Amino acid sequence: MDKFFQTMGGDPRNFNKLDLYKLPSPCFVIDKRALIDNLLTLNHLKSKTGVKILVALKAFSTPYFGPLISEYLDGCCSSGLYETKLAKKYFKGEISTFSPAYKKDDIKEIVNLSDHIVFNSTNQLNDFYNIAIKFNNEIGLRINPLYSEINNDKYNAACINSRLGMHLNDLYNIDINKLNGIHFHTLCEQNFTPLENTWNKIKNDIIPLCKKLNWLNLGGGHHITRDDYEVDKLETFLKQLADQTSCQIYIEPGEAVVLDTGILVGEIIDSFKPSNELAPNIAITDISAVSHMPDVIEAPYRPALLNEPKDGYRVMLGGPSCLAGDIIGEYNFKYTPKVGERIAILDQAHYTMVKTSFFNGVKIPSVAIWDSDNDNLEIIKRFTYEDFENKLS
Ligand SMILES: Cc1ncc(COP(=O)(O)O)c(C=O)c1O
Repeated sequence: MDKFFQTMGGDPRNFNKLDLYKLPSPCFVIDKRALIDNLLTLNHLKSKTGVKILVALKAFSTPYFGPLISEYLDGCCSSGLYETKLAKKYFKGEISTFSPAYKKDDIKEIVNLSDHIVFNSTNQLNDFYNIAIKFNNEIGLRINPLYSEINNDKYNAACINSRLGMHLNDLYNIDINKLNGIHFHTLCEQNFTPLENTWNKIKNDIIPLCKKLNWLNLGGGHHITRDDYEVDKLETFLKQLADQTSCQIYIEPGEAVVLDTGILVGEIIDSFKPSNELAPNIAITDISAVSHMPDVIEAPYRPALLNEPKDGYRVMLGGPSCLAGDIIGEYNFKYTPKVGERIAILDQAHYTMVKTSFFNGVKIPSVAIWDSDNDNLEIIKRFTYEDFENKLS
């Protein structure tokens, strides 16, 4: 296994037309046009197959886009009280909540706002069944199909030691009459075939249960808006699945909704080369891997850089924090990067803005909405020193 995973995103779309110097730095920029294009792809899938699509707020939950996303999709997939509240306030449609475990203190508010509540264990199903029914929630159970084609264990929810989902063998002590749906999630940035393979692994166990169920939720990780995604095969599969099970089929993608719709713009603050010939060219930027793009370190992966030449000076880009590992990656530059020069990291809409932190007092990037159709630019959020202080006091 490679130390660094190759990112599956990184299509610049229209971002090479954006004047990076018009923005505050650092700054996340979402291209509304690109987002609409992704939403159109997903909406088309809905109309061809009858599948319901919920946006996974864990990946992207910018309230500004709630109304727009709600025009094209069916609602939200949330992971607990705060996301469920956000879904209700800014998005329209259904809310399906799944948490690995609900706290007693939160459950009433969650079921009051949700349409589907998905449990992860028999204990939780038994503890909260009555309150969920009282608030008219449809009850789901997450299963672990024990099948996935993911090499990185950090993103593999379907391995034997996963804490997410019940093993099929353990369903014997569940009263199936209590359930309206089954949920599973085994994919991560994947094309169609791993979904089909997952279903083939579990279908003999699940189809008999479907007589009593209203829906099946196939989780997220479907990279539907990627150029090479086999949408035709997915369409055929979804239609057959609905026929075979007589269930409403749901999917809840996060990444696919905003894939390649956002960049993180930053600035070179310093650039130098230690005299030791073994040491790399180094550039310090106001983008921090640890505070702004933690998946770069967590996965780890090397994000794509806008307009990176094939050859040139190799430069190691790193953040302004004190963490030695606050490294974005090594990139080619046409010439040694200059102080004040702007750069843009591609495909930074998902699992970034939702994960930023004020670690080390590093400034959180502003948020800008750009429309590549007409070059309109709007800065919708700037963080201040007071935001940092208030978080700690
Ligand atoms: C249960 C569940 N649903 C949906 C998603 C969204 O996945 P993605 O953003 O990869 O589409 C995830 C991601 O971890 C998840 O765990």
